Amino acid sequence: MNFDDIKVPFNIPCYTGNEDRYVLDALRNPSDKYIKKCEEWFEKRFGCKRALLTSSCTHALEIIAILLDIEPGDEIIMPSYAFASVANAFVIFGARIVFVDIEPKTMNIDPYEVEKAITPRTKAVCVIHYGGVPCQIDKIIEISEKTGVYVIEDSAHAINSKYNGKYTGTMGTFGCFSFHYTKNCTSAGQGGLLIINDEKFIERAEIVRERGTTKPLFLKGIVEEYTWVDKGSNFAMSNVNAAYLWGQLELIDQITKERLSIWNYYKSSLTPLEDKIELMTVPSECESNGHMFFIKTKDERERKKLINFLREQGVQAETHYVPLHSSPAGRRFGEFRGEDKFTTRESRRLLRLPIFYNMTLEQMRYVVESIYFFYDFYE
Ligand SMILES: Cc1ncc(COP(=O)(O)O)c(C=O)c1O
Repeated sequence: MNFDDIKVPFNIPCYTGNEDRYVLDALRNPSDKYIKKCEEWFEKRFGCKRALLTSSCTHALEIIAILLDIEPGDEIIMPSYAFASVANAFVIFGARIVFVDIEPKTMNIDPYEVEKAITPRTKAVCVIHYGGVPCQIDKIIEISEKTGVYVIEDSAHAINSKYNGKYTGTMGTFGCFSFHYTKNCTSAGQGGLLIINDEKFIERAEIVRERGTTKPLFLKGIVEEYTWVDKGSNFAMSNVNAAYLWGQLELIDQITKERLSIWNYYKSSLTPLEDKIELMTVPSECESNGHMFFIKTKDERERKKLINFLREQGVQAETHYVPLHSSPAGRRFGEFRGEDKFTTRESRRLLRLPIFYNMTLEQMRYVVESIYFFYDFYE
């Protein structure tokens, strides 16, 4: 599609108008002011033990892998319907990835499959709250309490989502978030957040984020000079990126509300097509943040025809993850445990519709009308 022909892009990065003055302030007055402001804001809002801004969600996951002392022989359970970096963060330390099936309605990990896949080598289970809709995290926590495996909540999509009234990312041992420009809130380009819910990991996490040195203790006046004590890297977010993020955190409820109204518009106006397409749903115990709206076509062939038709109309709709267990690296570093009943089949039917902050009613209508047009005349 020629960019000039796009009437409704898939995504426009969130911009509220408040970001500029904070970024300018951060540029003129170098400090860690906005990093502290954002971290304190998350700690207060989430009621979590510690929030650490990172340069990406991938880096937050890599910090977790270091904190869990991942080594060859360890197994990490996760859905195959996932982003490569969720697996890679553990693979680079030698872990074997055990992929399990998802629940078809939400595309989230199936807790029953997790339970069956656990062995004495399992170190952690990493769930994804896909598209901003929480997985059945209470069942995963129950399994972890029985077996001692750690729980990692990948909330890359799920800032401000809740499960039974609790924010995602605050229930497992760790939570992590992404502020990449495709997400609900962005720190301009790239960014991430690590939430630590188990106190025993806090001090070490600060050290690992700071290149494996005791600089965080030095800055608090606990040691007189800092030194190298652990594995680590430069995983921290810059203050300028945090300043950009701050402009959005102030308005996070407005951003969520607006995205949910787009979500609800799609849902109600496409409901009459439910004999032809399946629509995304949110289970009653979940509060979504409107990160994504997906539909499912009859099969992959129909999806391809619909994508092409929408492209001709100037609407960008996107597929999503290709199951990791079928990728070259997934075959090398992991295995699917249990039956692939839904992962492959459902991933081939799924199509994400445009959704972004400040999307106009006219744009929403145009997307919906284009889908109706396809099913009325072209199918
Ligand atoms: C579920 C999930 N986890 C992690 C990531 C990685 O996030 P980041 O780009 O901030 O590293 C992504 C990226 O979109 C993702 O979809």
